[in-house]
This record gives sequence, C-alpha cells and structure tokens, in this order.
Amino acid sequence: MVSQTQNLPFSLCLLLFISQASAKPEYENRYAVCYTTGEYAPNSTYDTNLKVVLSRLTTSNTKIDYGFYSYAYGQEGSDRVYATGICRGDVTPHACRTCLNNSASLLLKQCPNKNQAQGGYDICKLHYAYYSLDGYQEYNFWVYNSTEANVTDWHQYSYVLNNLLATLRVKAATTDPSLNRKYASGNATAPNSQTIYAVVQCNPDLTAGECNDCLNRTFSKIPECCNNRSGGRVIRSTCDFRYENYSFYKPMPDTLTLQLSPQGPPSPSPSIEPSTTAKSSQGTHHGILTLIIYQTCKLVHLYIFIIRFIYLFSLKIW
Ligand SMILES: *[C@@H]1O[C@H](CO)[C@@H](O)[C@H](O)[C@H]1NC(C)=O
Ligand SMILES: *[C@@H]1O[C@H](CO)[C@@H](O)[C@H](O)[C@H]1NC(C)=O
Ligand SMILES: *[C@@H]1O[C@H](CO)[C@@H](O)[C@H](O)[C@H]1NC(C)=O
Ligand SMILES: *[C@@H]1O[C@H](CO)[C@@H](O)[C@H](O)[C@H]1NC(C)=O
Ligand SMILES: *[C@@H]1O[C@H](CO)[C@@H](O)[C@H](O)[C@H]1NC(C)=O
Ligand SMILES: *[C@@H]1O[C@H](CO)[C@@H](O)[C@H](O)[C@H]1NC(C)=O
Ligand SMILES: *[C@@H]1O[C@H](CO)[C@@H](O)[C@H](O)[C@H]1NC(C)=O
Ligand SMILES: *[C@@H]1O[C@H](CO)[C@@H](O)[C@H](O)[C@H]1NC(C)=O
Repeated sequence: MVSQTQNLPFSLCLLLFISQASAKPEYENRYAVCYTTGEYAPNSTYDTNLKVVLSRLTTSNTKIDYGFYSYAYGQEGSDRVYATGICRGDVTPHACRTCLNNSASLLLKQCPNKNQAQGGYDICKLHYAYYSLDGYQEYNFWVYNSTEANVTDWHQYSYVLNNLLATLRVKAATTDPSLNRKYASGNATAPNSQTIYAVVQCNPDLTAGECNDCLNRTFSKIPECCNNRSGGRVIRSTCDFRYENYSFYKPMPDTLTLQLSPQGPPSPSPSIEPSTTAKSSQGTHHGILTLIIYQTCKLVHLYIFIIRFIYLFSLKIW
C-alpha cells in the first residue's frame, strides 16, 4: 500500500492509495482515492448520515437493480451525504451489492474520516461526498492500470482497439435511457489471430452527449496509459473502459462482434454483427502493474471552483 498527500494553495486535495489484488478475481484491481477536502468528526451527524447512505447499498429496494445507485441522506445544507455507485453492466444485482459493500468498507478503512472518497474493484466503483454527485462530473480524476505484457504490433492492435471502443461508445451512449444503463461490451479480431475484448460504461444519468464526451476523454488517455499494452483500464467517476486480449466479461445477448478489414488501418469501414451466442473463457495475467492517478480537486466555499490538479502519481506493485 502506498499513499501520498500533496497540498496546493487553495486546494486541500488528494491522497491516493492502491492495493494489490485480493484472491477473488472479480475483486482485483481495487483502488481508493481519498480527498482531503475535509474531515468529519467521529460520531458526528455527517458520520451517521454517511453510514446510513452506505448501508442502503445493500438494501434491495433501490435503483441498484439496474447496477446504478444514487442516494443522499441528511438535512439539506448541513451534513448531507451523497453517494453514487455503479457496477459493470454484466454483473448480477447480488454481486453488485456485495462489491459496493466491499467498496464501502474499503473506503471507510482507507480514508478514515474523509468527507469524500471514491474507489472500488474490477466490477464496481463507489463515490461519496458532501455535494451532489448526480450527472456529469466533467472535471475529475482518472485512474488507470495496464497489463505488463506488450503486444508486438501496437499500430494495428490499437487501430482495432480504437475502432472497437468507438463502436462500443456509440452503443453505450445511445442505449435507451429507460433501461437505466449505458454499457456495451464486444470483441474484435486483432493481428496474429488475437481477439480484443472490451467494455465501456457511463453512469446512466449522463446524456448521450455527456457519455460520448466522458468516454472520449478516457480514450484520450490511451497513449499515456496503454501504449503497446495488451490490456488496460481507464476510470473516471462517471465513465470507464477496459480492454484485454482475453475474455473478462460475461457476454450479453447484445454483445458486439466488430469485423474490420483484415488489412488493418487503411480501410476503416467496420460492420457490426450482433450475436446471441456466448462464449466465456478466463485468461490470467501476471506482472508488474503500473498505475497512475491524476486528480482534480473540487473546492466548495461560497462559490465553487475547480482546480485542475497537476499531479502525477505512479507506483509499481510487486
Ligand atoms: C491491474 O490490472 C491487472 C490485470 O489487468 C490486475 O491483475 C492487477 O491486480 C491490477 N493492479 C492493480 C494495482 O489493481
Ligand atoms: C462513538 O460512539 C461509539 C458508540 O456510541 C463509542 O463507542 C465511541 O467511543 C464514540 N467515539 C467517539 C470518538 O466519541
Ligand atoms: C457488508 O459488509 C459488512 C462488513 O463491512 C458485512 O458485515 C455485511 O455482511 C456485508 N453485507 C453484504 C450484503 O455483503
Ligand atoms: C513493456 O514495455 C514497457 C515500456 O517499454 C516496459 O517497461 C515493460 O517492461 C515491457 N513489459 C514486458 C513484459 O516486457
Ligand atoms: C496477450 O498479449 C500478450 C502480449 O502480446 C501475449 O503474450 C499473450 O499470449 C496474449 N494472450 C492471448 C490470449 O492472446
Ligand atoms: C468523440 O470522438 C469522436 C471521434 O473522435 C467524435 O466523432 C465525437 O464527436 C466525439 N464526441 C464528443 C461528444 O466529444
Ligand atoms: C512500443 O513499442 C515500440 C516497438 O517495440 C517501441 O519503439 C516504442 O518505444 C514502444 N512505446 C512505448 C511507449 O513503450
Ligand atoms: C466475440 O463475441 C461474440 C458475441 O458474444 C461471440 O459469439 C464470439 O465467440 C466472440 N469471439 C471470440 C473470439 O471470443
């Protein structure tokens, strides 16, 4: 576990920690970001409200059945606590609740008394704060993690990857809002008879435009996070994506197969074939993992302003 704090004028931001994977594969990749925007006193009203909000994560009578949770508790204007949680679109409500519950425990443990924190695991992420988290959080930190393995033909590999991600982005963004879900998964054939598997997701309360914008911003981090890498993941609080060269998600009836010209980069005219068959195989990955966090901090006083936080944090595990 590594953590670091840094203070800037006006801002009281950032503490970050990342931890090694636990035994269960679906709970790998855990991370926690502790904000230094303020602390609450033990047994204070904020503390009590936070516990109420988090305990609702495990109750069934919420929007959590759609894999998305948004809840607030406490008096408006004082000590009100807001939380959002979201699970990957292929995850069952039960697994979702368990993951969010684990995330709640993780954040409370790693960010004691912090009035704002966010983090999660492979299949879910949780954010709580003293201000509303609904809608698009345009300025926010991002986290990434990529696999150590390098592909030999990144030029072609990334061409396929970018096409796959763009296709999934459009599909996720344009999902019927009444489904309360903005998630898409799919695969595409990469060079050397490899297959790239990817998922993209936005919080369902984003508009299609916001979802596209959020995902575009995460994709734009690929050169920083994932050059040459066979797999990677970029996470923001309102959207994220992950890709691997092995299957890591549960195929859905609408999981896409993207077919690109085998020639690669020159002729970009993908055709899409929805498929109803499902195949699931688990790959394993080992290696040193690199993780970097950028964070922007939010400051709320009489007025709100946002400071882009020029902070780069890098660490290696193992
Ligand atoms: C990064 O991702 C790999 C698999 O892609 C995973 O095994 C590893 O635990 C992750 N690292 C961290 C620090 O979460
Ligand atoms: C908070 O309340 C619990 C239970 O009432 C008590 O055991 C604990 O000592 C209190 N902590 C503080 C810091 O007051
Ligand atoms: C939630 O986590 C707590 C411990 O933090 C545990 O006691 C409880 O059983 C968990 N609930 C669910 C539904 O997993
Ligand atoms: C992949 O490439 C990066 C950057 O060139 C290098 O640091 C890393 O060791 C490579 N991974 C493997 C498994 O060789
Ligand atoms: C994924 O990519 C790495 C690096 O190119 C390669 O060693 C590995 O065999 C690939 N895995 C699959 C399932 O193709
Ligand atoms: C996202 O990127 C694509 C391709 O670069 C572009 O066509 C689209 O307009 C962008 N969408 C938004 C909302 O930025
Ligand atoms: C990616 O691999 C190519 C060819 O092996 C190498 O020239 C390039 O420096 C690598 N890029 C990064 C960011 O490691
Ligand atoms: C790609 O996805 C489709 C739809 O889920 C599935 O039928 C197909 O087997 C997948 N391809 C590979 C190579 O896993």
